[in-house]
Amino acid sequence: MSSAPILDSQPDISFVHSSVSETFPTLIWLADLAPQCAEPLNDQIKAALDAITGPRVQSFRSETFQTEHNLHMEPVFAPIIEAVAKLAKGGLQQMALKYDEIVVTSMWANVNPPGAKHSVHSHPNNFLSGVYYVQSDAKANVIRFYDPRPQAEVMMPPRTQRNVYNANLIELETKPGRLVLFPAWLKHDVPTNLSDRERISVSFDMMFPRYTESMSTPLWKGGQNKGLR
Ligand SMILES: [Fe+2]
Repeated sequence: MSSAPILDSQPDISFVHSSVSETFPTLIWLADLAPQCAEPLNDQIKAALDAITGPRVQSFRSETFQTEHNLHMEPVFAPIIEAVAKLAKGGLQQMALKYDEIVVTSMWANVNPPGAKHSVHSHPNNFLSGVYYVQSDAKANVIRFYDPRPQAEVMMPPRTQRNVYNANLIELETKPGRLVLFPAWLKHDVPTNLSDRERISVSFDMMFPRYTESMSTPLWKGGQNKGLR
């Protein structure tokens, strides 16, 4: 078999245009409260948690404590609701979604003593979820999100650098006053607290309260079926 001849007159291949489509992106929004808002708020939340749990003794070491999930009803958490509403509104606008209202359906606090972690999970039956960080020291300042595309890890070639295009896990830094908002279906976990203080966060879920009435009709319009007489 002979190879095709290369003609002297054949021009080099060149593009007049190229582009890339970032298809099916997964959005995670982060926002940091101004220190003059976050610092007094975090102190109030810690005091409220102390009142709920009482003294947190060494027997809690490595065991996560979670409150009931009705904290969104408590006045001390109202500033978080306000911040979350603002961030969610911007996010839903970015996604160009048509909706009449979205509300926080549940809110609860997590206390991770040194040595404690949160295993991989998602938040069913809601549209958005998020976390607000009250206390998150170095070595206890990461939340991890997992690639929701199961096929993407079939092939994981070596990479020259880690980035959002080749990773199947991303880590985002957390710190006091930071709000992280993400799709409720997105799997995530929180690694072991390797600091010497508790990691304290407030988690929440958000949903469209009138989803059934106003958002669940089929995505197509009915009409006369031309195939029937
Ligand atoms: Fe979570």
